Formats: sequence, C-alpha cells, structure tokens
Amino acid sequence: MTALTLSTAGAATLRADALVIGVAKSGKTLVVAPGAEAVDKAFDGRLAAVLETLGASGAEGEATKLPAPAGLKAPVVLAVGLGSAPEDGASYGAETLRRAAGVAARTLTGSKKAAFALPIDDAEDASAIAEGALLGAYAFDQYRSSGDAKDAKKPLGEVALLGAKPRDKAHKAAAERAQAVAEEINRARDLINMPPNDLTPAAFAAAAQAAGKEHGLKVQVLDEKALAKGGFGGILGVGVGSQNPPRLVRIGYTHPKAEKTLALVGKGITYDSGGISLKPAGHNETMKCDMSGAAAVFSTVVAAARLGLEVNVTGWLALAENMPSGSATRPGDVLRMYSGKTVEVLNTDAEGRLVLADALTRASEEHPDAIVDVATLTGAMVLALGNRTFGIMANDDDFRSAIHEIAEEVGEASWPMPLPADLRKGMDSPTADIANMGERMGGGLVAGLFLQEFVGEGITWAHLDIAGPAFHEGAPYGYTPKGGTGSSVRTLVRLAELTAAGEL
Ligand code: BES
Ligand code: ZN
Ligand code: ZN
Repeated sequence: MTALTLSTAGAATLRADALVIGVAKSGKTLVVAPGAEAVDKAFDGRLAAVLETLGASGAEGEATKLPAPAGLKAPVVLAVGLGSAPEDGASYGAETLRRAAGVAARTLTGSKKAAFALPIDDAEDASAIAEGALLGAYAFDQYRSSGDAKDAKKPLGEVALLGAKPRDKAHKAAAERAQAVAEEINRARDLINMPPNDLTPAAFAAAAQAAGKEHGLKVQVLDEKALAKGGFGGILGVGVGSQNPPRLVRIGYTHPKAEKTLALVGKGITYDSGGISLKPAGHNETMKCDMSGAAAVFSTVVAAARLGLEVNVTGWLALAENMPSGSATRPGDVLRMYSGKTVEVLNTDAEGRLVLADALTRASEEHPDAIVDVATLTGAMVLALGNRTFGIMANDDDFRSAIHEIAEEVGEASWPMPLPADLRKGMDSPTADIANMGERMGGGLVAGLFLQEFVGEGITWAHLDIAGPAFHEGAPYGYTPKGGTGSSVRTLVRLAELTAAGEL
C-alpha cells in the first residue's frame, strides 16, 4: 500500500526519487504552477523554457520527465499538465489536481518515494492531490509471479505531499480522509479485479467478515440454506445454477449519536455468464466486474467506519454467480421473491434485478431513511451514457438531484435518468406478477422500474447503474487504472457524510 505523508520540507530540500510539479497553459505560453517556485529557481528560472523545448504543452494527462539540476535533492523532476491556468490565482480545481496527481503516481510506478509540489490553495486541494496520487498508484499484482516484471510494476511506495500544512487541523483531516477513501476505493478495485474462480460469493462474504472484524462492523451472512429458509427466491434463483452457492451479506456500521440510517444495496454477481440465456463470446470476458456494486457498497461501509461518521450505514451485498447448468433457472421459470411477488424469468441474463429485488425488500424491513442501490445493471445504460458516466434513477426528484450534485462535487460523472411509468406494462407477465424483462428500448429505465417495485412503501430510494464506469477497458488515464475503478464509492461516502451532517 502506498504511504502518505504531509511534509513541511521545501521542494528543493526533500529527499525523494522524483519531484512532481505542475505546468499549465497560459494563452500560448507554458507556465510553472504555484508550489514549484523553488524548483524553478534551481533551473535559474528557466524551467518552463526547458520543458517547452522538451515538447511540454501543459495539457491535462501530459507527463514530462527531466533530470534535476544540482541544488535539488531529487534526481528527477516530473512535470504534469494541469490544462489552462486559472485566471487571477484561482484554484486549479479539485478534479484537475486529482487527475494530475494520478498521472504522476502512475508515471512513477516502480519508484520508492515522490514529493508532490502541486498547487495547494486549501484543504480541499490537498485532499484531491492525496486522493489522486493514492488512486493513481494502484496496481493489481496479486496474480503476477515475483521477479523483475513484478518489481517494475510495483506501485509508487510513498507520496510526500508538500505545501499541505501538517499542523493545520483542516489539512490533516483532509489528508486522513483522502487516505481512507482512496484505500477503500482500492479495496473495491481489488475485489473487482479478483478472478471469479477465486472471488466466489462465499469468498466475498468471508472478505466482508474479515473487514468487519478489523473495523468493528456487525456482519451477518445468510448462506444458501438460510436463504432458502427465508424465502429469498430471487437470490436463490440466480445462484442455483452454480457450484458456488449464493450469499446475502448484511454489513452494518452504527454510530451511537447517529440520527439517520442509510441503507446501501449492491449487486454482487461474482460472474455473469448470462445463465441459460448465455452471453455470446465478446460479452463475457469482463463479467467478473458484475459485483462492482457490492464492492462499492462494502468499501463505503468500511470507509464510513474508518471516518467515524455520525450516521448508521447498512450495506447489503447480494452475492451470486450466474451460471448455466442442469440446475440453473430456465427462461420461463417463475420465482417467488422474498417480498412474496412472483417473477417470470424471461431472460436469465437479467439477473441483477432479481438479486437486488430481494435485497431491497430485506433492506426496507429495517425502515432506513433512504436506500441507494448500486449495480452494473444494464448494457442499455452503457449505450445511453457511455463508459465513464453512471445513471441515477430515483423515486424522489430531490434525492436524485442531490446525488447528481454530490457526484459532480467529488469528481464522478453521472446523469439523472427518468423512470417513465409507461415502460411498466412491457413487464406484464401472462403467468406471474411481473416479468424480469420488458421493452428493449430504454432498457436501463425498465430495470429501474422493476427495482422500484421492491422498495418499501414511503422509503426514499435511488438506483445507480454503474455498468459503464465500473470497469475500465481502455488505456489508463488520470487516476483511473485498467480494470475495476471503484466507481461510486466517492459519491456514496460523501452522501453518508452529508446525511451525518443533517444536510440531506
Ligand atoms: N451484467 C449485465 C449488464 C452489463 C453490461 C454490465 C455491460 C456491464 C457491462 C446484466 O446482467 C445484463 O446482462 N443485462 C441485460 C439485461 C437484458 C437481458 C434485459 C442487458 O443489459 O443486456
Ligand atoms: Zn446478466
Ligand atoms: Zn449482470
């Protein structure tokens, strides 16, 4: 794990393997961002000119390495682009700093220690840089044999943040928060990247139990016997085709002074083959990511505990493996759900809504102040919003807007989506109360309407469809690596914080 320290040392005097500075565009010229004055001085004030000679433009995502002159304690200077310099000394903006720090940390893979001398105006900037660096330094190497190849890919060992004030309460708290949140996002990424032959529902539940012990959380696991006894027909119906039986995990964080309870429900399909409605080749290679919602929920509950938030946060992980076999649910089968409703399964690949439905009903029994479910639910949402934006649906317009604003504030792309009532009739079933599939058009909204039917009367609820951003297949960018991203954790943590503060 990458260490984080706040240092009062000057950029010129701290010993490190690399010194990270920011550069930006000001009109047509390249400027060195605040925080790197001492570094520029070591270059006799010619740092921007030298970087320009090397082709640096200051564009976001750009990283330029150059040898440090005598007078600096680090052998290498790494200049990362911050885009356009803000007017009149305004802040560069948290997300710009977060991404630039991520680029730097990624570029410095294999290094032991880097000093970050990026522009810091306030505690929020310090937090963004810390978060970006720790997220950018992420590597999933548990499955690589040791040797040179593994060593070269070792994440940056230590991030020393310059310009933050370690004795300032706000700065210290911001850095500690950033570290807890980033580490929990990286926990989610690890779970998502873990191959599905190892991360079975039982293994996921065991991970929750272990983290629960470590952080003082109450963890209850329903295994397949308990699920059958309880009548969880949705979760069982999805898991019944697999050799790895399903689980429903409740992971609860409580605070003695909490006035509100937030319930988070996560889709935890450890592998989605589609079941009997088997996915074609080309659509199943990344389906280990189908438990990203449960991973985000799990990480958020642990983060809430680590931050000691004055709110109760209950996580529900609906875990199952969706496989085809002689015992698998068939298209045409009818399941009796935990709520008592019957569902005709027309497509076994629409399994997420089945496990979530049971978990939503169960979560509703505890009458939380709000429920948010998170799921890699539909390909339709990816078609609608692309690979980087998640959709938000809700039974309350204000709640949906609040979550959208929170996501924006923490640097996660999202967009509010409607739940048009006319799409409900497409799920009418000749046999059961509802079918698990409806019209193809607006498939993401159809899924949302299905879930809504399993939310307890009068409970504020929102649904995040993270099918696009949960798993990144392209080249890494900013602080986003290939593979699991930890999408929605930052939004959920902030939602919990605002709930604790009574602002929601
Ligand atoms: N896990 C998939 C959705 C998904 C697609 C996640 C792409 C991540 C990336 C989900 O279970 C699924 O297969 N949904 C079907 C529903 C349909 C059969 C009604 C879909 O979207 O095609
Ligand atoms: Zn599916
Ligand atoms: Zn799925």
